[in-house]
Amino acid sequence: MSEAAFELAGRLTRSGSPSPGPEARIIVAHVLGVEVPRLIAVDDVTAEQQRFIDELAERRMAGEPLQHLTGVAYFRHEELVVGPGVFIPRPETEVMVGWALQRLAERDTRRVVELCAGSGAISAALATELGGLELHAVEVDPEAFAYLERNLEGRGVDLVRGDMATALPELDGTVDLVIVNPPYVPEGLRPFLPSDVVEHDPALALFSGEDGLDAIKVVAAVAMRLLAPGGILATEHDDSHQPGVVETLRAAGLDQVEPHADLTGRPRFVTAVRP
Ligand SMILES: C[S@@+](CC[C@H](N)C(=O)[O-])C[C@H]1O[C@@H](n2cnc3c(N)ncnc32)[C@H](O)[C@@H]1O
Repeated sequence: MSEAAFELAGRLTRSGSPSPGPEARIIVAHVLGVEVPRLIAVDDVTAEQQRFIDELAERRMAGEPLQHLTGVAYFRHEELVVGPGVFIPRPETEVMVGWALQRLAERDTRRVVELCAGSGAISAALATELGGLELHAVEVDPEAFAYLERNLEGRGVDLVRGDMATALPELDGTVDLVIVNPPYVPEGLRPFLPSDVVEHDPALALFSGEDGLDAIKVVAAVAMRLLAPGGILATEHDDSHQPGVVETLRAAGLDQVEPHADLTGRPRFVTAVRP
């Protein structure tokens, strides 16, 4: 690694960063405009580049997410534009997308609605990884919607700005898959979230009532409205309330309700079928 990245990794270590080496390499590579593996060939940085590195280091040590410093987030095979005003896609969501891709691959028709689309990470991954999809992505927040438009431009996805509760009535009873990573953090957990999450991810993307199930109750009703008989719902949720999600989906009338874990083994998403 270049001297600049090595020195920055030391500073990030002393400030308590959990992954100082990778973060330092990403910041320095971003400033130099090179891919991380090319850093090995970098001998030195200019004074101007060092000033920019120092500025980004200060912002990182003050708690700003790395993805806001570089303006990009990675999700499965996607590189997405992110920044203030949109939720940063998380690796735990990747498992649910993998599950959905397998189920969709088995179907002849592939009409998909993503609710709560944010940056568009889920829709982008589905569009890249499987052919023959008809994709619709719904997002209510205007700031997040601007990122959605940018990330899905030219991908052939129908983008809908509005509340999922009433979105896409023209598709009622015809959809093969509803997939969603909704806001789901219980309000009571707010004081326990890391500051880089609470202060930099939009509150509308995170919190959803006392038990974190408010949005998931809407998701269940919308899935019952949109899905064709035999159509599938996949919804992510907080690791603290999987039994509540299972109960909510059953109470809404969904069938074959199954809990799933993420890659760390934590309860993370539930799938169900419309009878
Ligand atoms: C946890 S983020 C998920 C974003 C993206 N799908 C991802 O996985 O990175 C939840 C998103 O739902 C949006 N949202 C919240 N309530 C909504 C509603 N009633 N209708 C549509 N979108 C909503 C938020 O603005 C936010 O972008």
